[in-house]
Formats: sequence, structure tokens, C-alpha cells
Amino acid sequence: PDEIGVGELASRMKKTGAEVVKCLIKNGVMASLSDVIDFDTAAIIAEELGCKVEKEIIVTIEERLIDVSEDKEEDLRPRAPVVVVMGHVDHGKTSLLDYIRSSDVASGEAGGITQHIGAYQVSVKGQPITFLDTPGHEAFTAMRARGAMITDVAILVVAADDGIMPQTVESINHAKAAGIPIIVAINKMDKPEANPERIKQQLTEYELVPEEWGGETIICPISAKTGMGVDSLLEMVLLTAEMQELRANPDRSAHGAVIEARLDKGRGPVATLLVQNGTLHQGDVIIAGTAVGRVRAMTNARGQKLTEAGPSVPVEIIGMGEVPGAGDDFHAVADERMARELVEQRKQENKDRLNGPVGQKVTLEDLFSQ
Ligand code: GTP
Ligand code: MG
Repeated sequence: PDEIGVGELASRMKKTGAEVVKCLIKNGVMASLSDVIDFDTAAIIAEELGCKVEKEIIVTIEERLIDVSEDKEEDLRPRAPVVVVMGHVDHGKTSLLDYIRSSDVASGEAGGITQHIGAYQVSVKGQPITFLDTPGHEAFTAMRARGAMITDVAILVVAADDGIMPQTVESINHAKAAGIPIIVAINKMDKPEANPERIKQQLTEYELVPEEWGGETIICPISAKTGMGVDSLLEMVLLTAEMQELRANPDRSAHGAVIEARLDKGRGPVATLLVQNGTLHQGDVIIAGTAVGRVRAMTNARGQKLTEAGPSVPVEIIGMGEVPGAGDDFHAVADERMARELVEQRKQENKDRLNGPVGQKVTLEDLFSQ
């Protein structure tokens, strides 16, 4: 193919028809969206619009900037499991996580966690585990779905005095959709009205059959208040994770997910990131959705400064130009200028999506009356 339609060129470059037609006119080519242009012309336009032409293939900025290559077997190293704690509102997810981190003395890291952070790593019997909290509130479906997707194991917290509730069912569905194993923690066992047998019965309706009944679901009765059963729960998490032989490549540029993000009055946008592959370094340029910036400082959940964070490590970073969206992917990239271009392009795409299809409707009159 030594020619390409103008509309096709625009969509391959993820540009609007208007942008491409404008650029063509600027270069003395009077063409409309439905016209076909030769490849040499397309190449000139592509270069001008920030894309690159390789062997007659137009490569978008995104493809040039973001490395999606597969890791080689020999580059993979073991990584910590990422565990999401899910369940209905008030069933004790945050309490369980608080208990685990407050009792994390075995890791030798004195001084508890000072501020709330939705993701942190602890060491259990010398083995690191990364935990993510999810809210049980109805409004947070997307976060629970995303939480299940970026994790390896789900702990489903069910209060022994309450039973299976709507967000319990939703959490089960998210974990199943993500294909991750579910370990059930029947919580609040210290309460006199706790009824674990009833909960086990209820769980079978969702194909979660306890091991003691011949099924495959690990069920741990616990109390996040007294700490009862939490040790064996953590052992089960480690066993379940071991079977997955989780690995990643620490020697590539980082990519992962934004766990949460907010605007801090003094420090600007603050984001909690989970590195899923590669290593994030202080000073790296990162792009997350339509936010771009340089990692000015990184801290862990204990407020300790880090200069790098490898696979499965959650970190809080400052330095983004704006607040990224929770759940967005992030990528560390080599070219800040191109990253800014890509962000502009994504913003334009979002705008176009809001304004409906523009491409096909653009006429020359439209262009000159703008
Ligand atoms: P959301 O984040 O709002 O979905 O709630 P959550 O699941 O994080 O629950 P949270 O840990 O905030 O606990 C809710 C309430 O249950 C709090 O008042 C806790 O003190 C109480 N609670 C949590 N675990 C236990 C437990 O094991 N025993 C008893 N008695 N109370 C508990
Ligand atoms: Mg909570």
C-alpha cells in the first residue's frame, strides 16, 4: 500500500480529521477526509503531528513512548503477592489491615504507619506481601473491579454477625472475573452473636465451598479486633501466592496502576502508585491518563523516603502536574516532551468523545471559520 486515506491516517495517528486536513493544507495539499494521499505525503504529515513512519506503518506517539514488549524469561525475578481486601461496608477490611500493619514488628521496621494509605507492604515471616484496601461503599464499584484486576489474591472479609451482603456478592464477582483466588476471612468472631456456620452455608450459594465440606475455598475465622486467626490467614495468603510463582522484571521502566490520588494543599498532587512491573526511580517522568510529571519524591506507607520502587511495591509520590485518576495505568517514559504531547492528545480525544464524532463532519468551511 503506497497510499492511505486521510481519514484512515487520522485515526491511525489518533488525531482528529481536522488536524490532519489542516496540516495537509499547511503543506500545500488540498485534500479532504475522503481523499487518498500517497505514502510520502502521509509520512511528512505524520512526522509533523508527532508520529513516526516505520516501514510504511504509522507509529503513534503512544507506541513510540510506551514500551509494551514482553519480558524475557531470564529477566523475571520473584515478586511479592499483591492482596486486595474486599467486602461489604463495615465488615472490617480496614480494621484487618490496621491490625496486620500494627503487628508488623517481625519486619524490624519500628514506628508504625503514620498516615492513612490505601496500599502498603508488610513482611510476614520474612516474606513481603502488598495489601490494598478497598472501600465497601456502593459508590466504589469501579475501584473494587480495578482492585481485583491488579491483584493476585483476594481476601473476602465477611462479618460473622452480618453475613453475605450486596457488596460481598459484588466483591466475589469482581474477584471471579479477575480470575484470582478468594480466601474468605470470617471476621468479628469475638462477637457473641457470631455465626460462622451460617456464613459458610451462604458462601456455597456463590460456589465458594469450604475445604472442610469437600470444596476448595479456604475459610479463616478471625477477629480484626483481638487478632485471633490473623496469623493463619496470612499463612494461607502466602501459601496461595506461592502456588502462583509470581514474577516480574525489575530491569525495565516502571508501569503500574494509580491506587488513589488527591490534591494536597502544600505538596500538590499526591498519588499512591502500585508498581506492577519494572522499577520506578525518583526523577522518572511518568504519564498516568492525562496527567504527566516527574517523580519528585517517593515515600512508603511509613513515610520513609525511597529512591526506587520495584515490582509489587506501593509508593506515594509527588510531582505530577495534575491529579491522576484512581485506577489509571501509569508508565515511566524516557521523553518528557513526547509525554506532554501524548497527554494533550489524550485530552483532545476525551474532548472529542464528549462532543461526539467530529472527524467525518469537518469541511473546509469548518476549518477556516474556526
Ligand atoms: P468500609 O471501609 O466503610 O467499607 O468499612 P471496613 O470494612 O473497612 O470496616 P472497618 O474496619 O472500618 O470496621 C467497621 C467497624 O467494625 C468498626 O467499628 C470496627 O471497630 C468494627 N470491627 C472491625 N473488625 C472487628 C472485629 O473483629 N470485632 C469487632 N467486635 N468489631 C470489629
Ligand atoms: Mg475501610
